[in-house]
Amino acid sequence: MLTINIYYTGVNGSAKKFVEEMITSGLVDKIRSEKGNISYEYFYSVIDEETVLLKDVWENVEDLDSHHKGELMESIAKLREKYQLKMKVMQYKNREEYNEDFETVIRKRTATRKFKNKEVPKHLIDKILEAGRLAPTAKNLQPQKILVVTSKEGLKLIDEVSPCRYNAPCVMVVCSDKSKAFIKEDSSTYIVDASIVATHMMLEATNVGIDNIWIEMFDKKKLKEVFQLDKDIFPICLLPMGYKSDDYLGNPNHLIRKNIKEMVEYK
Ligand SMILES: Cc1cc2nc3c(=O)[nH]c(=O)nc-3n(C[C@H](O)[C@H](O)[C@H](O)COP(=O)(O)O)c2cc1C
Repeated sequence: MLTINIYYTGVNGSAKKFVEEMITSGLVDKIRSEKGNISYEYFYSVIDEETVLLKDVWENVEDLDSHHKGELMESIAKLREKYQLKMKVMQYKNREEYNEDFETVIRKRTATRKFKNKEVPKHLIDKILEAGRLAPTAKNLQPQKILVVTSKEGLKLIDEVSPCRYNAPCVMVVCSDKSKAFIKEDSSTYIVDASIVATHMMLEATNVGIDNIWIEMFDKKKLKEVFQLDKDIFPICLLPMGYKSDDYLGNPNHLIRKNIKEMVEYK
């Protein structure tokens, strides 16, 4: 299989208008019914309003070739011209049974306990937040609230409530709004939801080269006070983020994992 990512960028919303016309003109449906097409999907980003991502997947290179040589391509090119879109093909590779890049991220993520004095660029902060936005939550109620702490004063407040900032220049405090989360009998999913959000964020941070750690050791009551959180907003974890210090030797526990047999029972 082949996957292609194409980023279309325009101005004044022209990329989204292009997608709308691709759909309403029936072009997308026609492409989806072409031989060998597995999927043809557009994705909007809230971070970059002017860019849309097209992800198309094809059975094999021959089918993709005939799509490229086919008559639909001319109509697509005309529309692209009409909306004056720039096009960037980011990936063009075999899609294997598993995603190697994802495996790498899972294996690379590790607790960082010593950070450099180097800020996390805003566009990477945005990517990490977007991963938190896309996390699944019970009944899709999305109770998460995230504080991004980067100011001197804010970091000082973090140091007042936790010994575990490790000099990180950015701390994301993942909170959950208990009044918005799903309640089942006498329990609520507010902690589970925020934990999934935080996990998404840690993995995306690792993916974009930002070292991080999950911190439980902080005074939750005090944090609520110093950041003046509303009564229903509860901090679930701190995620210090940044670039690991050159002399950080790594977390010795990282490689210690139980045998899979201790973890799993097949029934
Ligand atoms: C729920 C949770 C709470 C944690 N709390 C702390 C903490 O308060 N301080 C700290 O230094 N590390 C904390 N950690 C980091 C763990 O010690 C670390 O993830 C673990 O040793 C596994 O190592 P690895 O993340 O490098 O694979 C926490 C991790 C999790 C998942």
